[in-house]
Amino acid sequence: MPTLGVNIDHVATIRQARRTVEPDPIAAAVLAELAGADGITVHLREDRRHMQDRDVRLLRQTVRTHLNLEMAATDEMVKIALEVCPDYVTLVPERREEVTTEGGLDIVGQLERMKQVVGMLQDAGIPVSLFIDADRDQIEAAAATQALFIELHTGQYAEAKDEQSQSKELAILAAGCEQALASGLRINAGHGLTYWNVYPVACLNGMEELNIGHTIISRAVLVGMERAIREMKQAIRGEL
Ligand code: PXP
Repeated sequence: MPTLGVNIDHVATIRQARRTVEPDPIAAAVLAELAGADGITVHLREDRRHMQDRDVRLLRQTVRTHLNLEMAATDEMVKIALEVCPDYVTLVPERREEVTTEGGLDIVGQLERMKQVVGMLQDAGIPVSLFIDADRDQIEAAAATQALFIELHTGQYAEAKDEQSQSKELAILAAGCEQALASGLRINAGHGLTYWNVYPVACLNGMEELNIGHTIISRAVLVGMERAIREMKQAIRGEL
């Protein structure tokens, strides 16, 4: 079964709502790890709407599992990543107006830039994952960048309104996994996964890590971080 990367951005979202010091995402990461998180994921956005530079630097020193830094492929972020040295970087598209990451990266449309950024990071010993839709051309282009991983965007699967469209989206993800494996890419997935829809994605061939945020933090607000994470681990195993 895949491992669980817990995205703690929304702990910082609550803090930033008041521009105060609580709740501290560093404390959330410690609790998440004690409860069984296999990794901690944070997205340092250009507009710093939730995670701050200070958070990423402190997490680098305190995270005992692995730290996955989600970021846009900009010069500013590459510089930060090279200084902080997360365990891996996930490159994501970013638009200021979006509520959350809305679609996968267009690797096909910016192949040279992506090759360059992947090269800079991986040459420094930081493996790169590319957040993309399960689309044939994007997966092929992702393989051409030499990135070690892709993260399959599960948003369309998560938003499917009925069982039939959910099965259709799952089949698209499954085909994407087969293509990625055949191209030598390792596979993560995430976005919009919940306690109720995670299991079929966890069962996909080759799936290594699921990056999950909103549903876990939402549950943690009500029942505590430890229980929220324990229950997500159960859901991934199909035991919830
Ligand atoms: N993976 C990526 C690349 C993301 O951008 C996000 C959202 O920040 C997630 C996973 C987690 O999504 P969610 O909060 O919907 O679980």
